[in-house]
Amino acid sequence: MPQQLTLDFLNNDGDDAARILQLRKELHRHNYLYYVKNTPEISDYDFDMLMKELEALEASHPEMHDPNSPTSRVGSDLADGFRQAAHVYPMLSLANTYSIDEVDAWGKRVEEALQGQQSCIIGEMKFDGTSISLIYEHGKLVRAVTRGDGEKGDVVTDNVRTIQSIPLTLQGEGWPEFFEIRGEIVLPWAAFDRLNAEREAAGDALFANPRNAASGTLKLLNPTEVARRGLDAYFYYLLGENLPADNHYDNMMAARAWGFKVSDAMTPLYSLDDVDQYINHWDSARKELPVATDGLVFKVNSLRQQLNLGFTAKSPRWAVAYKFAAERALTRLRFVSFDVGRMGIITPVANLEPVLLSGTIVKRASMHNDDIMRALDIHEQDMLYVEKGGEIIPKITGVDTSARIQGAKPVEFVSSCPACGAKLIRVEGEAAWVCPNKENCVPQIVGRIEHFVGRRMMNIDGIGEETAAQLFAHGFVHNIADLYDLKPTQLQDIEGFAEKSARRVIDGIEASKNVPFERVVFALSIPYVGETTAKKVARAAGSIERLMQMSVDELEAIEDVGPRIARTIADFFADNENQAIVERLKAAGLNMNIPDDDSATAPLSNALDGKSFVISGVFSKHSRDEYKSLIERHGGKNTGSISKKTDFILAGENMGPAKLEKAKSLNITIIDEDTFLNMINS
Ligand code: IVH
Repeated sequence: MPQQLTLDFLNNDGDDAARILQLRKELHRHNYLYYVKNTPEISDYDFDMLMKELEALEASHPEMHDPNSPTSRVGSDLADGFRQAAHVYPMLSLANTYSIDEVDAWGKRVEEALQGQQSCIIGEMKFDGTSISLIYEHGKLVRAVTRGDGEKGDVVTDNVRTIQSIPLTLQGEGWPEFFEIRGEIVLPWAAFDRLNAEREAAGDALFANPRNAASGTLKLLNPTEVARRGLDAYFYYLLGENLPADNHYDNMMAARAWGFKVSDAMTPLYSLDDVDQYINHWDSARKELPVATDGLVFKVNSLRQQLNLGFTAKSPRWAVAYKFAAERALTRLRFVSFDVGRMGIITPVANLEPVLLSGTIVKRASMHNDDIMRALDIHEQDMLYVEKGGEIIPKITGVDTSARIQGAKPVEFVSSCPACGAKLIRVEGEAAWVCPNKENCVPQIVGRIEHFVGRRMMNIDGIGEETAAQLFAHGFVHNIADLYDLKPTQLQDIEGFAEKSARRVIDGIEASKNVPFERVVFALSIPYVGETTAKKVARAAGSIERLMQMSVDELEAIEDVGPRIARTIADFFADNENQAIVERLKAAGLNMNIPDDDSATAPLSNALDGKSFVISGVFSKHSRDEYKSLIERHGGKNTGSISKKTDFILAGENMGPAKLEKAKSLNITIIDEDTFLNMINS
């Protein structure tokens, strides 16, 4: 009987449903105890067993899917590009100072403005990561948005869900039905060191500091990789109506009780003496913290007083940031050398008497380019100030001129390439001197081969800097296309290669023919085209033939491609030598297009045949990338700037006033996203 069946169904499922809910609750609590409180109650093994049980139950009950389940923390590979969302309250920055006196002056201004009212200041750490805004509705995380330009940011909810210390479902009680909490996403030192060690072993570029690593990680399109890297988050600002208390500190303590990680360093301070002591204490104590900090923040505690003090255009008057001075050492210059990069860019490097700085010995420090070196006015054997700040690559920040040796000559930038002797050129408007001899200058050739075979490019194992140099020295490989003509016997001529290792390289070269087109574009070493740009360019063009034909204007219409990059891409493909290399790579069988059956690029209709679009503003239903792809897949064309030839402007929120003015003056039809979606759906 149907009714009986329904009841049976309910009985079994009811048990499972209750168990799923119970497991989720328990696992959320254990996550909190482990990641926020650092006081786990069960072993990792027991935790894994509970997680496995939940995974199994969820797999057989897809109707109970919940993006906030603890199982979602490991991430999925489903994330697409990022959409943007406008911030409910703009994300402002803080007024900065490096001096205790200025912090005291701020404290006095606050006192004066409050006309003798009692006030309390909250001292807290300034975490050095990337800021995040989380929106909670009915106790659940619904959206995570990066700072972006302060008005709008990228929606990175899928990635944020993988951060174990962020509560997906709140604990306790008293949270408002709708609120926003802001904090800093950080990559703890231990995770940062591990990540860079991995990158070094794989030959990838290192992250300069945990801040870059945190923001880079948060923008990855693969939440599983985000989960693996070990981000963490500290919270410092609660916003919304119906907050639990009328002061910042109690609100943050309430947030802590709901499951957010709020630093133990957050402390009420009752006088400027307390503030000064807090600074003196944390100036050195911060070095013991597991995460990077670049200063302290002081905030007026009372929300009513905050309201009275208000904001300037850029920052609140009720808060100030005190920044720690970067660590600095003084050491003698031995000589200046000039490095040649794979794009031919010459970087001046100061070679120093070894000196200890923030726990490591420094022997070399970059001076970036000619302008910076000139501004430093470096003379032979000068005593130089080296700083690390948040960077792992030290830089020269000044000269102790009082210690200059009499008669010492100024150090000049080279005028010819230190590797090949070619006369250097300087592109107008750029700071860099470049060696133009890209076909015969060894470090450039070797650098391009090294880049081409890298893990994130063609992923050919067994060829590092040394092998690439030897392949060139033996006359086997002059450019990346020559790799595909390489014979095992040629490799065996190279020191350190036996039959087996030579075979491994040849197999790797063969396997690289399956690498997707977007990575091939990145591997080509087009100036300024990094991994993300390569992906966008490859997807927008669809094939190498199309990419090679695209005009500067068409290239500029691709997201992230500005006029300079568009020009370099066009120049790169206009070069005969590059054209020949691409032809040979094509003949060798590399992937030179996005597959036709790729559901993300296949044509959909002719609805926009021949129509030319310019996209402007922020959208809510699809990302800009998605709109660009939809335009192309329905037969239309994207261009970067408005001209007489533009048929439509697809305008989101906050379209720039200059564009609006131009569109009006040329009488171009402006459509919103709904109108556009109707156009392609009809
Ligand atoms: S309060 C309106 N508190 O510093 C004030 N910011 O320069 C909002 N930051 O964008 C910020 N630790 O990314 C605040 N304890 C802290 C902070 C903090 C780090 C970052 C945050 C912000 C930037 C301001």
